[in-house]
Amino acid sequence: MHTITASVPAKIILFGEHAVVYGQPAVAVPVLDVRAHAEMIRIDERETAVIHASDLEIQYEFAAQKIPSKVKHIDEAMRFLIRQQMEIPETGWRLDIRSDIPIGRGMGSSAAISVLLIRIMHQFVSIPLAMDDLIRLSYELEKYHHGTPSGVDNTVVATSQPVYFIKGEPFELLEPAQFHLVIGDCGIGKKTGDVVADVASAYKNDEKKYGELFQCIGDLARFGRLMLENGDHEGLGAAMNSNQTLLRQINVSCDELENLISAALSAGACGAKLCGAGRGGCMVALAKNEQHAGKVKQALDNAGAANSFYTRLKQEFQ
Ligand code: PMV
Repeated sequence: MHTITASVPAKIILFGEHAVVYGQPAVAVPVLDVRAHAEMIRIDERETAVIHASDLEIQYEFAAQKIPSKVKHIDEAMRFLIRQQMEIPETGWRLDIRSDIPIGRGMGSSAAISVLLIRIMHQFVSIPLAMDDLIRLSYELEKYHHGTPSGVDNTVVATSQPVYFIKGEPFELLEPAQFHLVIGDCGIGKKTGDVVADVASAYKNDEKKYGELFQCIGDLARFGRLMLENGDHEGLGAAMNSNQTLLRQINVSCDELENLISAALSAGACGAKLCGAGRGGCMVALAKNEQHAGKVKQALDNAGAANSFYTRLKQEFQ
């Protein structure tokens, strides 16, 4: 039996969410320990192709007309690839997808599924896939889900490396020093497209104020990048706190995120901010070292985090 596998990481945005949609830089990093996996098996070619999303406990036939709504994303990705002239047979394979990335929490679950499917289907039909093409195709798919995505999510997921990203420009891969991050899920789901649309209408109502706020966020992304590369914990933490102050001002934080941010800072985190679109989803805190990360994680759990994750920036590529 012929089996192929693929796996992609979650991501978080360390600096620049929202402002990145308006041309400012963002810094995003992969969360290498939280991943989505796919396995594709060639079966008897007379057998119908089947997609199994094991964490969602859904199995359906690829050729089916009615697709369960929970796997709409998977289905859209497959149809998209067919529209890109990729010949995916309707029989003879079984695809298993499993994702540990919480859905709708700012950890890139949709980008991860897009990148994962593009990658594994290319492997399956033996078509080489350059990084630029992976990023371009996954960006097209992101547009289905978020309307006007900046492209930062699919870029960091596709590269699996920290990136410095400006919309419409070539991204830069970063080589940060070692940092220990703790991510807390506040338990509230959010729709990125809705929050981005709200920010867009606020921007339309007061372009001067929002333009200045975005500019300040961009400055922090530029500064934060240097702190990452220089291994400066204090500087990085301070920049994260400042970014959070600006995110509050653009009205994308919420009580549940603030509660986790306070808990992390009380536990001695160097800095903490929401990550992703906000109004729910996740926050990220910078711990001093691995042991301290355990304390921060415990503090988030005690404060009611629905889920918490520890990750360090340098793992596979140190
Ligand atoms: O919440 P997420 O992971 O979808 O991140 C959204 C980031 C935004 O900057 C708010 C939107 C974007 O397209 O960059």
